[in-house]
Amino acid sequence: MALSRRDFLSLSGRSALLAGSAALGGAKADAFLKAGRRFALPRSALNPLPAMPEASPAGLLLRAAEGTADAGGGVVTKVFALNGSVPSPMLRTRRGETFDVKLENRLKSELILHWHGLTPPEAADGHPRYAVPSGADYHYRFTLAERPGLYWYHSHTHMKVSEHTFKGIGGLILVEDPKEEALGLPSGEREIPLILQDRQVDERGRPEYPDQGYGYMGGYMGPEAFGNGVHQPFLELDSALYRFRVLNGSNARTFRLERSDGRPLVVIGNDGGLLDRPYTVPTIDFAPAERLDLLLDLSDVPVGRSVWLRSAPFDMPPDSQEIRGFGARQGDPIDLVELRVTRKVGEPVRIPEALAPVPGPDPAASVKERRFKWGSDRDYWTRSMMQHQINGKIYEMDRIDFTVPFGQTEIWTFQNDGRYAHPIHIHSTHFRVVSRTGGRNQVFPWESGGLKDTVLMLPGETVKIAVSFTAQRGLFLLHCHNLEHEDAGMMMNFAVE
Ligand code: C2O
Ligand code: CU
Ligand code: CU
Repeated sequence: MALSRRDFLSLSGRSALLAGSAALGGAKADAFLKAGRRFALPRSALNPLPAMPEASPAGLLLRAAEGTADAGGGVVTKVFALNGSVPSPMLRTRRGETFDVKLENRLKSELILHWHGLTPPEAADGHPRYAVPSGADYHYRFTLAERPGLYWYHSHTHMKVSEHTFKGIGGLILVEDPKEEALGLPSGEREIPLILQDRQVDERGRPEYPDQGYGYMGGYMGPEAFGNGVHQPFLELDSALYRFRVLNGSNARTFRLERSDGRPLVVIGNDGGLLDRPYTVPTIDFAPAERLDLLLDLSDVPVGRSVWLRSAPFDMPPDSQEIRGFGARQGDPIDLVELRVTRKVGEPVRIPEALAPVPGPDPAASVKERRFKWGSDRDYWTRSMMQHQINGKIYEMDRIDFTVPFGQTEIWTFQNDGRYAHPIHIHSTHFRVVSRTGGRNQVFPWESGGLKDTVLMLPGETVKIAVSFTAQRGLFLLHCHNLEHEDAGMMMNFAVE
């Protein structure tokens, strides 16, 4: 059965109401529903998903400045743009190429860019201590060593990451290579780069970010879906196989991705590039900063029909539902992008059986375990505010929290104290997810089939990873990629020596 947009909205409303009644009480839940859905556009007002401008990072000037962008349908929004564009230009490159980028900071605040998932030397990694003042420039130069895959870049200015990223400093990095091309995966117009984000919008449809947003315990969430910077996106597609290269660019929201027609998703890649083989799964939990390489088979969808990529509802502890006036909660259902099939084509649907060898650390070679407790406690001194912490500590720019020997394989155990979702990110490496106990109690194929740089811990989960640092020596970061958590200090410095 294919649900119409209207059916899905009313279903979404009902399940949100049920969840809300339990967590908030009926009256509040009603208010939430009204706030949450007041600005949802009618179907006729969906916006075509725009393509992002592209650039090569081999000799690129990126100028950061305030400006305006169209949030869809001519809704003009104030943004922080790189080269006038939101999202930032998509950087298309190849392994072994030079990455030579000059950043000109013409914002009023400090800025430093981080290339998420790449492994450049420390000085090019965007550590916040390299943040450049307003009016100053920064030069990045290194050789790109990563596997082909989808990476991204964003602001890493301490305590401003959430606001900067929300306002538009962020874009994709697509690393291609000939071996991957030989697999014959869908390409050209059959390959769709997609940045998904959730937003709260004001009465004119403009995304709004609250002052001091990082004070929001659960992080920023909104009830509206944005794709490549526009509100409620749709695509007109052929009845064919498509490759979607997707970033969850939300500040805090995890999506439980599914197709609205009940068909499974075929995942072929993640944060670290291609998986060993394709995996067919009903849903995928997709946290901020994670990337997915998906094959969507629309070959059987009749012309005139739509399939939605949407997020299914999931349960979170009531404690995580604190929203202080913002109209969405972790686990709420949300329609993300409508795929309208408008043309019949008779292409064969070909999905390779094997994809790529996956290198990376061997858990059996581990010689050390480190434990990290990710929690939110009352501030020890003031007892007044909840504060996000790792092992009871709040980030300090000049404190080195631990040192890892270059090339040593270690097991890192991440434990979630049970209130919030924490997508954990490590700079300068890709790692293997070894186990997950508590909560969802399993490692999923989109994790175990490849390498990761970000791993999701839902409340009550303990996740073990195998990690080693073989690219660089220097000072790097471990942090929660819920951007409000990161800005509040859920971050550590470590040295690779
Ligand atoms: Cu995507 Cu340290 O960040
Ligand atoms: Cu990173
Ligand atoms: Cu977190």
